Amino acid sequence: MSVRWRAAMERALYGDDGFFRRPGGGPAAHFRTSAHASPLFAGAIAALLERLDEALGSPGRLDLVDVGAGRGELLRGVLAALPPAVAARVAAVGVEVAPRPDDLPGPIGWTTAIPSGITGLLVATEWLDNIPVDIVELDSSLRPRYVLGSPPFALDASPLDPRDAAWLADWWPLDGLPEGARAELGAPRDEAWAAAVGSVARGLALAVDYGHLAGGRPLFGTLTGFKDGKETAPLPDGSCDLTIAVALDSLGVHHLLLTQREALRLLGVDGRRPPLALASTDPAGYVRALSRAGAAAELTDASGLGGHYWVMRWV
Ligand SMILES: C[S@@+](CC[C@H](N)C(=O)[O-])C[C@H]1O[C@@H](n2cnc3c(N)ncnc32)[C@H](O)[C@@H]1O
Repeated sequence: MSVRWRAAMERALYGDDGFFRRPGGGPAAHFRTSAHASPLFAGAIAALLERLDEALGSPGRLDLVDVGAGRGELLRGVLAALPPAVAARVAAVGVEVAPRPDDLPGPIGWTTAIPSGITGLLVATEWLDNIPVDIVELDSSLRPRYVLGSPPFALDASPLDPRDAAWLADWWPLDGLPEGARAELGAPRDEAWAAAVGSVARGLALAVDYGHLAGGRPLFGTLTGFKDGKETAPLPDGSCDLTIAVALDSLGVHHLLLTQREALRLLGVDGRRPPLALASTDPAGYVRALSRAGAAAELTDASGLGGHYWVMRWV
């Protein structure tokens, strides 16, 4: 008997031989996130952490916890970008299902569970879109049915669990939509995020991800596969990344929501080109500034990474 989509996605990504547990280059070998795109991103997170440090009164131990840390790329970059006096107080930890990378610097911790009592910053870049959730689809009688987790991805005849029906009614109602319309049931993701926020004792929880808000939900959902840098059919067989955009508004109240473009601009990263006059007075500086502007433009491009959201919860 076929299981529902969520169980199939869980096994495909995180089972013993799951996509994210495999040895190799990790997520960076298959898709490009902000953390891989440019050191400017880690620099911006470092700038945010410095501001947070000040707001917290420069605690003796400043936590930096990266949930879904990949191969530790962001942690390494943030530590390198911080002033040494701040970096010396940072306790950096990657939370990952994949094993600790062999080349990870010794002081960076690595664990599978989010530590509690965090004083500092919990950051999760493109973690929430990889949390397995169920998908429902309207059948020919316009009733929402669970999508099953193996080809041909038929619909489960059983009715929705009350918890899922309630989430659907609150966050992604399908009333009035045609047969085939889909919703992705975000309750497990909301719970995972609430637990992450709950692990912060004092500081900030920041999720960076792509997603949508009520009124702008995609008619047929957002399930997508990625493999070797390209979009591919989202088959739950462990061969590819499976990603589902985040229903951002259901994550919780009291959150600050900015686009990455807005957030990075506030932190001093923007894609404006340097003045041409610099080319004649300092040609090398001009080339460096131009390359920085190119990297910043990628991170802030409203139709790409700049259109991702920063979801922030101050504790
Ligand atoms: C899309 S990758 C993002 C990696 C990195 N944060 C980045 O932005 O490049 C998602 C990562 O989250 C990890 N992950 C997903 N769920 C997790 C969980 N419950 N605990 C620990 N790691 C998790 C996966 O193994 C994967 O490495």
